[in-house]
Amino acid sequence: MKRVYLVGFMGSGKSAIGKRLGTLLNLPFYDMDTEIAKRTGMTIPQIFETYGEESFREMETEFLRTFHDSYCIIATGGGVAMREENRKIMRRTGLVFFLNSSFRDIWRRISTDSNRPIVQRSSRHELERLFHKRKPLYLQSAHFKVETTNRTLNEITQYIASQIVRLTIQ
Ligand code: S3P
Repeated sequence: MKRVYLVGFMGSGKSAIGKRLGTLLNLPFYDMDTEIAKRTGMTIPQIFETYGEESFREMETEFLRTFHDSYCIIATGGGVAMREENRKIMRRTGLVFFLNSSFRDIWRRISTDSNRPIVQRSSRHELERLFHKRKPLYLQSAHFKVETTNRTLNEITQYIASQIVRLTIQ
């Protein structure tokens, strides 16, 4: 097994599931936003405000290009799968799981979040449009699509772990 990447829209549970998956499989867990924040010494909203979104996207790609840990779980940011280079790196260096959630669930989780600049600057309608625009690219980046609706975090984690174990022993 190589790395495990979790992709999906903001609020689809990538970090919460990644953390649990790391514990279950005894692998280190990394959250890309946290790692970028550590590297820059700034929060994500500060990076957006100071350098702009395009620079943040460059930092995401730079993270994927330079990250060295081989056996680990990585929760990506919701925009990571939008760049072709990022999709290629993820597919080449690991297994990619797309966490598929309904917009309704996502909106419930993110609508009041002040740590997500995209949410701050968008209306519900704009976010829903972005959600539909991004979905084909999540699917394109992923080896597996995982349904999250009506499933608990632990159930989703168990399911992903079972897929990884199945592939590892094959
Ligand atoms: C973003 C998602 C965020 C973070 C940044 C931009 C996006 O990560 O990278 O605010 O463009 O969807 P999460 O998906 O972890 O919220």
